[in-house]
Amino acid sequence: MTKLRSKDLLGMQQLEADEINLILDTARTMKQIMQSGNKKTAHLQGKSAITLFYENSTRTRLSFENAAKYMGCNTGSISTSGSSIQKGESLLDTAVTIDRMATDFIVIRHPHAGAPHYLAPRVNASIINAGDGMNEHPTQSLLDLYTMRDKLGRLDGLKVAIIGDISHSRVARSNLWALKKLGSEVYVSGPGTMLPVQFAQTGAHVCHRVADAVEGADVVMGLRIQLERQEAGLFPSVPEYSRFYGISPEVLRLAKPQALLMHPGPANHGVELPTEVYNCDQSVISEQVTNGVAVRMAVLYLLNIRRNS
Ligand code: CP
Repeated sequence: MTKLRSKDLLGMQQLEADEINLILDTARTMKQIMQSGNKKTAHLQGKSAITLFYENSTRTRLSFENAAKYMGCNTGSISTSGSSIQKGESLLDTAVTIDRMATDFIVIRHPHAGAPHYLAPRVNASIINAGDGMNEHPTQSLLDLYTMRDKLGRLDGLKVAIIGDISHSRVARSNLWALKKLGSEVYVSGPGTMLPVQFAQTGAHVCHRVADAVEGADVVMGLRIQLERQEAGLFPSVPEYSRFYGISPEVLRLAKPQALLMHPGPANHGVELPTEVYNCDQSVISEQVTNGVAVRMAVLYLLNIRRNS
């Protein structure tokens, strides 16, 4: 397989296993380019990418912009503040306006699930989902998969424990779709109010005790807790969350000795995990950030091939 099937990257639910492997294989080459002395290539010369973010971001937005620039692509960015979105322009009118400027890629983050899927058939540009509500964050999942495969040599047969606010997490959803397709077993744990039992129907193992999810795991992934969830009464207090659901050194020791500690970021130090775990030898959080650029280079490169075919 040498080509993606769709002009858009909407979610891990839509990607077949062979397409995921193609992106991960391509990202390996992209990482070499990125880490070479000269990271400028001409793969996307004459193309243009616009990031359209209705929510805040550091990693995703900057890594897409860098990925595009490293391959010679022109870039621009639009946020809610400072654009005509503030004047009430609709999502569709905004996207069509960007599209009519001969844009090749629109990278969108939006608080509503399905926003990228709504736009995809309505524009010529490739729509890339950079996070839609609680639905999916496919390029986060791709960089997570890349990091796991790079460090552990495989994805098949891994035990991956995802801990935290599973209900509201697009990262958990994308990883669940992807890891199941690639042969890993996914265990999820968190407060009962953030742990939908329906997740069991997707093939995930739902654990009410964090220890049960982490025991013997190859990967332990923390998820960011949105602190406004406490105000909504979904967990009693930050110290209690940290005590019962935080990834402490003792919890991490339940995993395999060489298990990877992952977090999509941004992290709340002392809530999802203490700083000593964030910085421990098993932590690959910084490598996830680096791999995010390589994976996004691969996505742009492969979508461009698909557009030209
Ligand atoms: N992991 C992630 O999506 O981070 P940002 O919100 O900083 O993009």
